[in-house]
Amino acid sequence: MDTLESLALAVETCTDCTLCEGRTRSVPGEGPERPDIMFIGEGPGYHEDQQGRPFVGPAGKLLEELLAAIGLTRRDVYIANVIKCRPPNNRDPLPDEIKACRKYLDQQIRLLDPPVIVTLGRFSMARFMPGATISRVHGKPQQWGKRTIFPMYHPAAALHQGSLRRYLEEDIRKLPSLVEEARRNAMTATEEEPTPEPEQLKML
Ligand code: URA
Repeated sequence: MDTLESLALAVETCTDCTLCEGRTRSVPGEGPERPDIMFIGEGPGYHEDQQGRPFVGPAGKLLEELLAAIGLTRRDVYIANVIKCRPPNNRDPLPDEIKACRKYLDQQIRLLDPPVIVTLGRFSMARFMPGATISRVHGKPQQWGKRTIFPMYHPAAALHQGSLRRYLEEDIRKLPSLVEEARRNAMTATEEEPTPEPEQLKML
């Protein structure tokens, strides 16, 4: 799994949990290889399971509208999910399923190396901020190592509960400046030469 292609192949043929038995297609994720932003949703729904692509149903349409509000399209960002196969009747993912799929998400983050990760919904948020409550932390960026984690409500939640849409619209408007800042930080980090340890200085 040292390339996105080999990772996608591993996901397509994965049998590490029982969700493989009911899937039409698994959904590895899609987007540019070096994205500024990686969106992480929960798991495939009906449309995603049919097409093998993330966020192509009604929640995806809302996500595209939100992206358009900040001048982006889905092709500008990477889109993935916590679990890669659809749970029966779109039920919540089970802890064992999340655990079995975690290696794929972790490796995607390593390979894509995104400065900003947007979590959509509570399962995705819990990967980085276990125990947090989405109503309290949405729209508030958090530092996670060298990356910025930006928790947002799941678009599907706003489709069920219209009053949440305003939070999604407010929160997404914060993304461009977050990306700018994260990019600047990443640039300073690579430009700075690490100070040599005294032992190394002696060896020079
Ligand atoms: N909801 C998700 O969490 N992911 C998708 O890919 C689609 C809907």
